Amino acid sequence: MHYHRRKVCRICGSKNLKPILDLGKTPLANAFLTKKQVAKRDATYPLQLVFCPDCSLVQLAHIVDPEVLFKGYRYMTSGSPVLIEHFRREAAEVAERYRVGKDDLVVEIGSNDGVLLERIKDRTHVLGIDPAETAAVLAKKRGVDTLVDFFGNRIAKKVAAKYGQAKLIFANNVIAHIDDLDDVFEGVKTLLRDDGAFVAEVHWVYNLIGDGGFDQIYHEHLSYFSLHAYSRLAKKFGFVVADVEIVPIHGESLRVYLQKSGKPSPRVKQILAKEKKAGIDSIHAFRRFAPKVEKNRRDLLKLLNTLKKKNATIAGYGASAKGNTLLNYMGITKKHLDFITDTLPSKQGTFTPGAHIPVVAPEMLFSKRPEYLLLLAWNYAPAILHKEKALRAQGTKFIIPVPTVRVV
Ligand code: TMP
Repeated sequence: MHYHRRKVCRICGSKNLKPILDLGKTPLANAFLTKKQVAKRDATYPLQLVFCPDCSLVQLAHIVDPEVLFKGYRYMTSGSPVLIEHFRREAAEVAERYRVGKDDLVVEIGSNDGVLLERIKDRTHVLGIDPAETAAVLAKKRGVDTLVDFFGNRIAKKVAAKYGQAKLIFANNVIAHIDDLDDVFEGVKTLLRDDGAFVAEVHWVYNLIGDGGFDQIYHEHLSYFSLHAYSRLAKKFGFVVADVEIVPIHGESLRVYLQKSGKPSPRVKQILAKEKKAGIDSIHAFRRFAPKVEKNRRDLLKLLNTLKKKNATIAGYGASAKGNTLLNYMGITKKHLDFITDTLPSKQGTFTPGAHIPVVAPEMLFSKRPEYLLLLAWNYAPAILHKEKALRAQGTKFIIPVPTVRVV
């Protein structure tokens, strides 16, 4: 079957998990297909969200085996100029904040192709840890020493014995991918110095159910954190939530600073209060989520069907993983979109999982000139709308699909 149903909460062990959204059975969002594979039936897995009333963690009900999920994982941070800029700024700012020096060690869990650590490799000793071999090869080319492995307490002990403890540990968009968080947090406890910090960025569930999009839900993302849930996890391992920032990544993400000692900053209290006001520490806010997603589907399908009846030409823009959740849940197919453009050469020439829409190079926009572009990489909307000024001036309109459908 290659997946199993999780019966207890990943943070607190509660058996009281409540269903909040069912997106049906879908293929893996990053499993782009070759021409040969398109002829075969896609492997699909249930995509259902549950809420834990005891610690407020939102999580997937079913876990796809990591070997299936991450086999040939091809995601490269360096494919996104927005992320490169964001991570580099983060590395410099956090290193400055904690006064990281030449003799310190800075570790990144899920370091991918080394973009973040490269920024500070000249001011300190850096070490990336990531199981994706192809990404690690690129990181090493950037001069970022990388250990190809899954992070956990075993690796933490090994690294601490070899290099000493770390002043900083980063983990961006990776905590949500990991089923056994106890092993990761034990590892962080082992590896982090008493005066150090564990700085992680996670998608913020507040944004997911608010102005973000349900399309960030896919099998790689096992957990959807509120600050409430993350604090609960931190406390379980004796960490203090020293500070938190809201960063404009994937809609909005939380950057959480954990320390072994200290006091929570006023921002921690503010964000906890904001979450409480929105009711996301209880199931009530999530009960409104499923009808909202269903309305989003009806509205977008209505628009696309109306445009097709008028013989409008429509293509997709940015073959993002979240785009595949959206296409497959909504039942958008080749009947609606002629093709999807993507800047990443590794995706060009492939077909989207499930919907089987061809992914092509952006040059196609100029030869075919579609009248409408469904923006599947909506998280980069400001940058993309700016970049495509010329196309828009010639009459092409962008459809922004979530959280509510807009044509601009
Ligand atoms: P991501 O949200 O996982 O980074 O995926 C975004 C996808 O969109 C990625 O495959 C690259 C693609 N993309 C474009 O095609 N054009 C663009 O201008 C941007 C920013 C991304």
